[in-house]
Amino acid sequence: SNRADRIEAALTFLTIGHRGMMGVEPENTLRSFVRAEREGVDVIELDLHLSKDGALVVMHDADVDRTTDGTGPIVERTLAELRELDAGLGERIPVFEEVVDAVRAPLQAEIKDVAAAQAVAEVVRTRDLAGRVEVISFHDEALAAIRTLLPGVRTALVGDRYGADVVDRAKAVGAGTLSLNIRRLTLELVERAHAAQLKVLGWTVNTHDQLRLARGLGLAGVVTDQPEIRRAVRFTA
Ligand code: G3P
Ligand code: CA
Repeated sequence: SNRADRIEAALTFLTIGHRGMMGVEPENTLRSFVRAEREGVDVIELDLHLSKDGALVVMHDADVDRTTDGTGPIVERTLAELRELDAGLGERIPVFEEVVDAVRAPLQAEIKDVAAAQAVAEVVRTRDLAGRVEVISFHDEALAAIRTLLPGVRTALVGDRYGADVVDRAKAVGAGTLSLNIRRLTLELVERAHAAQLKVLGWTVNTHDQLRLARGLGLAGVVTDQPEIRRAVRFTA
């Protein structure tokens, strides 16, 4: 592409804070999200599950073992019970609405539990977040549900061990973006996605080499645990 295209790409390339800024803060906590925003990320990524009583709990795993001082599945606890746990450095497990209020950045809200789609759509609708929140998921059915409930909300299909059919899957659920494991990403797949009018994001990009690869592949941005890696290569158009 020409120089203007390359400069445009350099200026619009997105740095997305993974679970906030999990490289330095306890993942998926308000502390992590506030830190990511202060660091200047363009978008903050977070993960969502449903509690036993239907709250939208911000946590990556389906159980609390790895990231808190408790044990067992999220879905077997009420929000009040989950609030008693320490999510790291004394932080409490947040709910989605608290993250919405704690930061101003655009959010990538990942539906981990397909059953949470309805609740996510409800928050996005009642809080008028369609312009600020992109709903993302590994689960096609979660994105299809969001598409039905809130046709105007942007969505992204996430892929780890995806095949070439991931482009058709994204189009089938109305997603505008693919967010893919950069370790398995090829130029051929990126070109196929672009030909289908899909943006492509890469995760998880934590080194300068991976960042250069992402830029070379023409990605729209990267999901990173360490947004500070952007500084060294910010304006390399
Ligand atoms: O943003 C996509 C990325 O977060 C998917 O992987 O396991 O960190 O949710 P994971
Ligand atoms: Ca995620």
